[in-house]
Amino acid sequence: MDESASMIRKGIEKMAVVDANELSAREFVFTDEDFEIIRSKLYVHSGISLSDYKKDMVYNRLVRRIRALSLSGFNAYFSYLEKHAEEFSLFVNALTTNLTAFFRESHHFEFLKNIVVPNVGANGSRRIRVWSAGCSMGEEPYSLAMTFNMSDINLREWDIKILATDIDSDVLNIAQAGMYGTDRIDAMSQVFKTRFFRKGRGQFTGMVKISDQLRDMVTFKELNLMHTWPMKGPLDVIFCRNVMIYFDKETQTELLNRMADLLAPGGYLFVGHSESPFRLTDRFTLIGNTIYQKVY
Ligand SMILES: C[S@@+](CC[C@H](N)C(=O)[O-])C[C@H]1O[C@@H](n2cnc3c(N)ncnc32)[C@H](O)[C@@H]1O
Repeated sequence: MDESASMIRKGIEKMAVVDANELSAREFVFTDEDFEIIRSKLYVHSGISLSDYKKDMVYNRLVRRIRALSLSGFNAYFSYLEKHAEEFSLFVNALTTNLTAFFRESHHFEFLKNIVVPNVGANGSRRIRVWSAGCSMGEEPYSLAMTFNMSDINLREWDIKILATDIDSDVLNIAQAGMYGTDRIDAMSQVFKTRFFRKGRGQFTGMVKISDQLRDMVTFKELNLMHTWPMKGPLDVIFCRNVMIYFDKETQTELLNRMADLLAPGGYLFVGHSESPFRLTDRFTLIGNTIYQKVY
């Protein structure tokens, strides 16, 4: 199989909810201390705060690295990590949770089309800058691009750019390729399927590819939210959905304030269904279901 097709299928495998390993006895010794070492390494690097109940998930994800490297167990893996800097990103990739979908929390895209785009237009502007922070395999930024295409504007007269970033280089490769299993677009209307996707052939049978026009609207970059952000801003819209949920309150507060700094006056922040800047910062006000506007 072609390398990109196998990469995409591997990404899809990581998403499998039930892992065969979870059902069998453990092959390697995995102590609470091992879990603490992993938890601390991941937190320091990515801000991801693993709760105790993630212990089985961590074991199942990292065991694949131990097997792939033919190591004798977790202690050997920790030594390997110390000596091989390039393993660290694979360690992080293995531990991120990348669950996503096209038009996930669809009311956000309705709001963008019906409120944000007309508001920007009413201000006499034809320029929109959007950041999809924690974009996973690309469904979110491509849904944004589709929304702008379906908005009541002449795209040729507008300057719209979507920056999509993630810490996980594996999901970014999938996002950049823009290829998905056909089941990922099952729920989409036929109009969208025909307009924005091309059917895969040969080794890509059973897959669809995002249209070049959508692909050209999105720039993908690897970016760890804990590090400095290279964008200058001001941005009009930030989608940071189902990402902060993995961070502790302190980290969430810091990120929210940095996002407020980067947004234009009155810029919009969209968060996941179980996330909220409320009680963490006064720089945003709630204007819709999990939709916030910058106050200052
Ligand atoms: C559950 S997915 C959410 C995807 C998409 N935003 C959505 O709501 O459908 C969370 C994403 O955040 C990314 N992530 C986690 N920690 C990160 C960090 N420190 N910097 C950048 N991305 C991070 C993960 O790699 C993962 O792809």
